[in-house]
Amino acid sequence: MRYSNALTVTHTKLENMSDNIQRQICVTMALPYANGDLHLGHLVEAIQSDIWVRFQRHRGNNCSFFCGSDAHGTPIMLQAQKKGITPEALVAQAHEQRVRIYSAFNVDFTNYHTTHSSENRTLAEDIYTKLKSNGDISRKSVEQFYDTEKQMFLPDRFVKGTCPKCGAQDQYGDNCEVCGASYHPTDLKDVKSSVSGTTPVLKSSDHLFFEIARYQTDLQNWLETSQCQTATINKLNEWLSQPLHPWDISRDGPYFGFEIPEEENKFFYVWLDAPIGYMASMVNWANAHDHNDYFKAVWNHDSDVELYHFIGKDIVYFHTLFWPAMLKGADYRLPTAVWAHGFLTINGHKMSKSRGTFITADAYLHHVKDPDYLRHYFASKLTDTVDDIDLDIEDFKAKVNSDLVGKLVNIASRCAGFLKKQFDNRLLDPSEETLYQQFINARETIASDFESRNFAKAIREIMALADDANRFIDANKPWLALKDPEQHEEVHRVCSLGLQLFRILMTYLKPVVPGLTEKAEALFGETFTWAQLEEGLRSTTINSFKPLLPRIESAQLESMMDEVKLESQDNKSDDTPKTGHLADEPIAETIDYDTFLKVDLRVAKIVEASAVEGADKLLCLKLDIGGEIRQVFAGIKSAYKPETLVGKHTVMVANLAPRKMRFGMSEGMVLAAAGTDKNGLYILEPHEGAEPGMRVR
Ligand code: 2FM
Ligand code: ZN
Repeated sequence: MRYSNALTVTHTKLENMSDNIQRQICVTMALPYANGDLHLGHLVEAIQSDIWVRFQRHRGNNCSFFCGSDAHGTPIMLQAQKKGITPEALVAQAHEQRVRIYSAFNVDFTNYHTTHSSENRTLAEDIYTKLKSNGDISRKSVEQFYDTEKQMFLPDRFVKGTCPKCGAQDQYGDNCEVCGASYHPTDLKDVKSSVSGTTPVLKSSDHLFFEIARYQTDLQNWLETSQCQTATINKLNEWLSQPLHPWDISRDGPYFGFEIPEEENKFFYVWLDAPIGYMASMVNWANAHDHNDYFKAVWNHDSDVELYHFIGKDIVYFHTLFWPAMLKGADYRLPTAVWAHGFLTINGHKMSKSRGTFITADAYLHHVKDPDYLRHYFASKLTDTVDDIDLDIEDFKAKVNSDLVGKLVNIASRCAGFLKKQFDNRLLDPSEETLYQQFINARETIASDFESRNFAKAIREIMALADDANRFIDANKPWLALKDPEQHEEVHRVCSLGLQLFRILMTYLKPVVPGLTEKAEALFGETFTWAQLEEGLRSTTINSFKPLLPRIESAQLESMMDEVKLESQDNKSDDTPKTGHLADEPIAETIDYDTFLKVDLRVAKIVEASAVEGADKLLCLKLDIGGEIRQVFAGIKSAYKPETLVGKHTVMVANLAPRKMRFGMSEGMVLAAAGTDKNGLYILEPHEGAEPGMRVR
């Protein structure tokens, strides 16, 4: 992880930067859970907050940026058990993966820490103790489902049963995915524990509650001064118009979290210590860098530091009610604003494993590679609202190729060649040029769009300027003018100006596409700063031009989507209607016999089977199809130990187009039946006597 070298925290005084006051800003991004893969949905938030942070630093403000992993809770405890490792080990693995991925996407955190840390424990205990001494904590008996086999209370998501309203089977304890009904887990029929599959019993235990209603007036006051979005303010007003219910902050063990002081076998609910993780990340960084006053500078009542939390719209409740109330109770300042964004959809639909649109950050990095494409695309869609944003794969390719490559980079590549060939890479002073002034004059509008998180508008303005620059070059046709010696000076002027315009556009886009900007800075031999827009020309020569950004190829996106589909093959338990019954998955559309014959099915003998490093769900199979060995990645790891497969015969689709995966080529597909439960995955096996290579029809 890169720590920001530029960050020098000065709290005691505000410094003057030309006419501008240097602002002290502290930004946090919601802490991702320490289980599961990071996906492009996580990156919407990371990219949104990172662009804003980079913009602030670019403007000369002092902006720190904190995050970390949200490490506690039942799902993490159970996932660790499933993997046969400790939750600590799971969290450590997740930490490494997250640091690597955020860094690959150029997310420039000041610090990335974890809620499972000594700093967080101290802070959580301290805040809780303050709330307790205020009289804000009450105790009440709660009846809950209890798994007698696993000896644990079951959170709503770990109870399944038949919906009391529509009768759909296999529904979660809090709401029905079929009819949308919300209910209490005890309303479900035929209840089963998802952890052990046994029927749970109802059991009571004491829980601790935070009496948040005591802070109703403080929350109302905060609402009036905070800079939250209109949608959030409206929602908050609605919530605050009713008395707030006490919030259950304790969970009985076994639970992965911090034990509550002076209680037996009770742990803080994950959402109690999660936002405190923001503070813990700051303390961890401040201690490591000798910024002893930093914590107080941010959290004291008289703080000069603007404090912003970037979050997803699903967790507004936690950040605008519980969190500010906890802060108030523990005598800390409240956030300047909580800024929520919408969800990411893929090709117009919710991200889904079953549809094969659950795009992990790693799949993107492996196939598409350059983070700037995605950063630019998300920026072109992000506004200050909580509207969802869509990643349409075709639109993504078209926009990146036409905007970034076709319009922007094209300006530099069109002009740099002539400058080198004819004019020793010398740039003329553009300050008297009207177009140059027009580009410079756009700076305050663009700055205000970035400031208000209206990135889509900023990008539209920048791209409109790029169109102007291209039109200017087209109108002056340097490639023709160069043929006439009398027009050489004019060609010099046009190409110089073209590059200077490019320099301004890259200065605007620096927070969005840091990788591309670095290459552009190398071309000019300088670091682009916002202040330069006012100071004017720096470079007088450019370095030799090197290609700045290739186009995205369809093949990259296709192989990414192929990998995503294959990796999700055996992981349908999270979000798909269950298969296995005709009623659940109706028979597909009729096809004629010739169409069927296009699928070449062959008997294949499994000659090798092995786990795939870096893939949770896949096995790598070597299949003999009668004199030819095929390598196939199959999503069947949950159902088979590799060694038990060797020697078995199965059936494969032999004429499926090969798919390039991160782990190698997959040259076909093994047929398997998917059942209703987690282990219900069965490869097809022909009757004894079938030979490798025989056609199946
Ligand atoms: O919803 C989530 O993904 C949570 N892990 C976010 C926590 S944000 C903060 F409170 F820690
Ligand atoms: Zn229902």
